[in-house]
Amino acid sequence: MVTKERLLINGGNPLVGEVHVSGGKNTSAAVIPAVLLADDVCTIENIPDIEDVHALADILVSLGAKVDYEPGVHIRIDPRGIDGWQVDYRKAKKLRASYYFLGALLGRCGRAEVAYPGGCKIGSRPIDQHLKGFMALGAEAEERGGIITAKAEQLLGTDIFFDMVTVGGTINVMLAAVKAQGKTVIYNAAKEPHIVDLANFLNSMGANIKGAGTDVIRIKGVPHLHGTTYAVIPDQIETGTLMIAAAATRGDVTITGCIPTHMEALTAKLLEMGVRVTDMDDAIRVRFQQAYRAVNVKTQVYPGFPTDLQQPMCALLTTAHGTSIVQETIFEQRFRHIDELSRMGAQVRVMDRTAIIEGVAQLYGAPVTTTDLRAGAALLVAGLMAQGTTEIYELEYIDRGYEHIEDKLRSLGADIHREAFI
Ligand code: EPZ
Repeated sequence: MVTKERLLINGGNPLVGEVHVSGGKNTSAAVIPAVLLADDVCTIENIPDIEDVHALADILVSLGAKVDYEPGVHIRIDPRGIDGWQVDYRKAKKLRASYYFLGALLGRCGRAEVAYPGGCKIGSRPIDQHLKGFMALGAEAEERGGIITAKAEQLLGTDIFFDMVTVGGTINVMLAAVKAQGKTVIYNAAKEPHIVDLANFLNSMGANIKGAGTDVIRIKGVPHLHGTTYAVIPDQIETGTLMIAAAATRGDVTITGCIPTHMEALTAKLLEMGVRVTDMDDAIRVRFQQAYRAVNVKTQVYPGFPTDLQQPMCALLTTAHGTSIVQETIFEQRFRHIDELSRMGAQVRVMDRTAIIEGVAQLYGAPVTTTDLRAGAALLVAGLMAQGTTEIYELEYIDRGYEHIEDKLRSLGADIHREAFI
């Protein structure tokens, strides 16, 4: 008999107090594979203790790396023993970021064979731009039978213009180009904070990358990258999720260890709703002050409103006064949380890539099921603000991206606990 876990939340408690945000999931997902490019040991600090990190560490070990992982402290990776270049189906399917081993292995040894990645089912999520980038650098790259193979005698720097802004494509091409011969310029590059973090990490190893954070990234290939010690940036999406939960429960929460400038799009939207948000050097305070106004949200690439916060934001908007329009412009199927919110009394209509949310007085607790990571965040927020008890099932999604989330919420006064069930 398989035991599984569920979260039980008795909603209605305002979140109050101080909480420290963890290191970034999506930045760790890029930085950990990047260690393959080094000739020596790398120590990475502020890595979150989440399933995606565990899965990446397993892949590194399977390739021959030595990994010393102290959750909450650091991960020390010695890439010198790596002789593998294949990542199998079972390991690759656990997460989206497994495909970063394509760029890292190409950059390390000129060949890679990685099964098609997993990750949240929020759209078709093709990888044509990644392959376009690898081929522009002189690699042969193809996808066949669920396996992506790439190989190159010598990667040669070149100009690459992405057809659309792609975070993963930008990261994968950076990883392949950083030791290529000559100069690579990536046009229409993603500008997310974790792109900058990856560039800073690689430069701390001796890479020569300029322009990360703008839409033109210039990379001068270098023959070797040395070891380094580096701390990844705090998680922008966890910060935003905690800000939304504080507002949704009409609480007063200070989130420490975050970078307020990474949160500007969400902060602006919360202020527009009537939430009180105060930026400090490395903290943000979110307080309830008046009934919330409905607002319109349109997801955009950074620095626009992040698609990863669209789902928890929908939960908050279910009880704002008026009608909110939420447009999801990045992924084509990112409203799977709406059915579950409707079970809790939300009034939402979805038409293609737009959700129309009519504010209601109250949500009511119900058993609900997570369909993807940020849908899980939406259900957490809804359960915290609902009257009555909410049971959240399929926790593996939440555990992929939020470090000890129920402990953090409980420390702020939430009545939430995890229990096993058969
Ligand atoms: C990354 O996904 C993040 N995942 C996602 O976070 C995030 O939502 C997304 O960036 C946007 O910010 C990781 O970092 C591991 P994209 P990624 O390539 O790289 C299309 C979370 O919840 N596209 O920027 O897959 C694609 O289909 C996760 O933490 C192509 O068409 O996102 C999408 O519509 C969910 N061809 C759009 O571009 C390509 O070759 C943006 O995708 C690549 C992308």
